[in-house]
Amino acid sequence: MSPFAGSRIVLAVSGGIAAYKAVEICRRLVDAGAHVVPVLTAAAQRFVGEVTFSALASERARLSLFDDDDPIPHVTLGRQADLILVCPATARVIGAYAAGLADDLLSATLLATRARVVVCPAMHTEMWEHPATQDNLRLLAGRGVIVVPPEEGRLAGGDEGAGRLAAPEPILAAAADALAIGDAASSGDMTGLRVLVTAGGTREPIDPVRFVGNRSSGKQGYAVATEAAVRGAKVTLVATVQRPLPASVDLVLVETAEEMRTAVVDRLPADVVIMAAAVADYRPAAPAAEKIKKTGEARTITLEPTPDILAALGRGTGAGILVGFAAETSDVLANARVKLHAKGADLIVVNDVSAPRAGFDHDTNEVALLDSAGGCTTVPLASKRHVARAILDRVVALRAAR
Ligand code: C5P
Repeated sequence: MSPFAGSRIVLAVSGGIAAYKAVEICRRLVDAGAHVVPVLTAAAQRFVGEVTFSALASERARLSLFDDDDPIPHVTLGRQADLILVCPATARVIGAYAAGLADDLLSATLLATRARVVVCPAMHTEMWEHPATQDNLRLLAGRGVIVVPPEEGRLAGGDEGAGRLAAPEPILAAAADALAIGDAASSGDMTGLRVLVTAGGTREPIDPVRFVGNRSSGKQGYAVATEAAVRGAKVTLVATVQRPLPASVDLVLVETAEEMRTAVVDRLPADVVIMAAAVADYRPAAPAAEKIKKTGEARTITLEPTPDILAALGRGTGAGILVGFAAETSDVLANARVKLHAKGADLIVVNDVSAPRAGFDHDTNEVALLDSAGGCTTVPLASKRHVARAILDRVVALRAAR
């Protein structure tokens, strides 16, 4: 299983000759299933063109605080990231980060994140050994930044000495560790648990080519499945969409609410069931066998209720800890509390889908976790992976309290 699968990484490239080595790191991270967004300083672009990174990364390279459609690119990048990998890190970038200066996109993103940060210094020996650089790195390490020390070897201009960027292997290992450290307290705390997760919006056919659907992307359910697998669970994911996933997760692809119900019920019992899917509440009562012809007349489609999978699990046994999701647009907490009881769930993850950057199709989410014992935890806007972590922390606590 790749430790990078499903993670969002900002690859922050500053301007040293070692910038060309970041191209290889970018490619390897993408190959390993990470979603990589490169951020290049002005000096980095003197060494490697943005096109090279844009072609290899998951998104185009970002270059400036001001030339983006997004008015706050540093905040967006910082919030959405699970990890920022500064590779190579010049003495200037290390100094700016330590001092809290934010005078370009890269340094502003570093200040605008709560994600883990890995710094890979590369510079001439004199600069590396300078007390300013060493003090800055000590300060950063004290704040939890992970430093991958440079190696001895050939430097720009034919010089030899300490300061050459570390090899790709230690850099990638540190990045993988940093992603896992989020789980340091919890790593392995789901070992052996059977976890069943659903993800994505169901599609209910109107005819062979049309369907009733919704805006769910499946990203939150995939993040939950990935996180549970990282924490040692034996995970089955029943989903309507395909996204990168650790190889250890057993993926079952379905389309309709009825197919999802059958897939879930067939895989019980489980220790934990997390219903992140946006299951249609209604479906066309009589889908047409042939494509419906355009007549120019108004047309009525009769909808019938779909089976409520979560409520059925809540009434039965075999689902262990049962987690439902509630997408609300008004009276968010009150509606979610009603749903918690009506569905017989142990925990409801509620999000206000009208809030900016939360819910359907976004990479970030902002939720409240309501449990049947009356507890309520809020998770402020963060990456969906981070939200997944918070959900599983509650699940583990609820299991321990049983
Ligand atoms: O009732 P509502 O659709 O708002 O509830 C949302 C929760 O119920 C989600 O966890 C969703 O996966 C689940 N659900 C279900 N079966 C349905 C509708 C929703 O399991 N038919």
